[in-house]
Amino acid sequence: MTSAPDPFPVTFSAHWQEELDQLFVWRRDVRHFHTEPLPEAVLDHLLRTACLAPSVGLSEPWRFVRVDNPQRRAAIRQNFLHCNARALEGRSGEDAQRYATLKLAGLDDAPHHIAVFCDTNPEQGRGLGRSTMPQTTTWSAVMAIHTFWLAATARGIGVGWVSILDPDAAIAELSINPHWQFLAYLCVGYPADPSDTPELERRGWERRNPARRRWLHR
Ligand SMILES: Cc1cc2nc3c(=O)[nH]c(=O)nc-3n(C[C@H](O)[C@H](O)[C@H](O)COP(=O)(O)O)c2cc1C
Repeated sequence: MTSAPDPFPVTFSAHWQEELDQLFVWRRDVRHFHTEPLPEAVLDHLLRTACLAPSVGLSEPWRFVRVDNPQRRAAIRQNFLHCNARALEGRSGEDAQRYATLKLAGLDDAPHHIAVFCDTNPEQGRGLGRSTMPQTTTWSAVMAIHTFWLAATARGIGVGWVSILDPDAAIAELSINPHWQFLAYLCVGYPADPSDTPELERRGWERRNPARRRWLHR
């Protein structure tokens, strides 16, 4: 019996596969950062890696925006505080008390802020794959974010996704093309509290659900 030829010119050994599994286990949403900045070459590498993500029609609709300007950062911080306060107002009793104890963004400490947008109607890709499911551009850009996140984790770098923001206000605060869709505000830097367990689980807010690990069948 002949064995199947190696599918790739590189070998992903069993040991490497186990290490990759550990990468998925240790990828965290990080809200506590050291303030030390990352080397620019590392950030550039993460962006190039993110751009290896799949995209509908090869449209590459992601747009990564570095936010370095202190006034713009301050505006985003106010945006977050406002939205988080509104989210708290919508809760009551013990639920509100527990919500108030959660740290839901690392905006103050993270040395790098990266806003991610999707060009929902890009010329690139010439519309392929989008006629029945136009949301696929958004999904493509989210895949780039996840690729960025994993590549960062592999280098000991933390990423925290902040979504408690008014997207229209964020677009105005960052002077972004209003036709781009706001997807994420990423805090990036060296993590201060690496863990193999989500922070929301460590704080008793929510737990991973074993039922989600089972297939559904039709
Ligand atoms: C689309 C998206 C939006 C998120 N928004 C926030 C957020 O605004 N604030 C926050 O603290 N975490 C946010 N998170 C992180 C989740 O809370 C986190 O992924 C989840 O608790 C599991 O933890 P883990 O990523 O460390 O495994 C977001 C994650 C995703 C995928």
